[in-house]
Amino acid sequence: MAFEKLREDFPLYSSEDKDIVYLDNACQTLRPRQVMEAMNEYYNEFPACGGRSVHHLATKVTMKVEEARERVAEFIGCSDPSCIVFTKNCTEALNLVAKGYPFRRGDAVLTTDMEHNSNHVPWLQQRDSIGLEVRTVPTPPSGLFDLERCKEEIQKNVTMVAMVHTNNVTGVSIPAKEIVKEAHDRKALVMLDGAQSAAHRPIDVEDLDVDFFAFSAHKMLGPSGVGVLYGKGALLERLRPLIGGGGSVGLTDYEKVTFLPPPEKFEAGLMNYSGVIGTGAAVKYLSELGMEAVCEHESELNKTATEGLQDLASVSILAPQDARHRDGILSFNIRGMTSHDVAMIADEVAKVEIRSGMHCVHPFFLSRGIDGCARASFYIYNTKEDCRKFVDTIRFIADTFSR
Ligand SMILES: Cc1ncc(COP(=O)(O)O)c(C=O)c1O
Repeated sequence: MAFEKLREDFPLYSSEDKDIVYLDNACQTLRPRQVMEAMNEYYNEFPACGGRSVHHLATKVTMKVEEARERVAEFIGCSDPSCIVFTKNCTEALNLVAKGYPFRRGDAVLTTDMEHNSNHVPWLQQRDSIGLEVRTVPTPPSGLFDLERCKEEIQKNVTMVAMVHTNNVTGVSIPAKEIVKEAHDRKALVMLDGAQSAAHRPIDVEDLDVDFFAFSAHKMLGPSGVGVLYGKGALLERLRPLIGGGGSVGLTDYEKVTFLPPPEKFEAGLMNYSGVIGTGAAVKYLSELGMEAVCEHESELNKTATEGLQDLASVSILAPQDARHRDGILSFNIRGMTSHDVAMIADEVAKVEIRSGMHCVHPFFLSRGIDGCARASFYIYNTKEDCRKFVDTIRFIADTFSR
């Protein structure tokens, strides 16, 4: 697969910023023209409301939205598109489960000590409002997932395991299939926060047998403002919608409401049609590339970048050291510098765009007394030349500013 050729599809690479080294993909990726064209097609050709009006423009919207739902379902190995709920982002999808599932006081949820706030805050809110017990699996110094510890925790009675599938700081993925099996053997459900996995590796929710899976479109070539919740049909039936309104209900009277079956029951109000259609175009683009190839490409780049920094005494890479465990994510610090300074200088001197700070995983950093890290994250349009520029820039910063 000639990944370099893909740049022709991404307008930023023919703009005045064409020499940019965009490595903030774990936050948000660039979008190809195919996605923007699909979104503009909605605004230009059928800018109507789906699922309600009966004229031909509205019918086209409904068809396009359902086509996007089918594509997303296929992309994650789901054979029933009605198990795909469109939300506004991954955060909303995770909240939908944390707050919509009929938990009872004293039920326990198991997470890790490295959750993004989006899969941390909702559980603390539930702890405070309904008395949910929240337990975590600690990450050992190797940075790898402690499956044995996780199994021990699951055996201590857990209602739901809700964990980040691929970590946004370390890039480490958890052994989801084993976790799901262990959890199901103990009658616990599993939700995966797939914000960093769906974009980077093949996902098959049915093979994983996972109960809920959440992700965002903007981390995988799609527009911002669209997220996805996959849930097994019977479980979606049991979830309470967090928002009620038009489009999510059958006939209402002054007294009572009957919600439609999923996914409509969770999609109240006029939707982000263009965004949903753009999401369909994004997964089509990725499917054509093949997610195995995407994963290999990123890993190869990460290996090159990691090797380029490994001999620098002033640069510490966040565990694990071996790039093969980190997909396309490389987080690091330079001795004596804040991560924000590293990121600002990299932008200033070489247009190398990386992320800095605590990456919304505050408890992990605070508990270890680290004030954050810089993070480079690779995607399909990044090249070996990007890696070289990134490595040269970080070496220059370390040589010049490290104390
Ligand atoms: C692991 C992880 N989970 C959840 C989120 C939240 O995604 P969103 O902001 O799209 O809701 C992110 C975003 O960076 C993430 O990396």
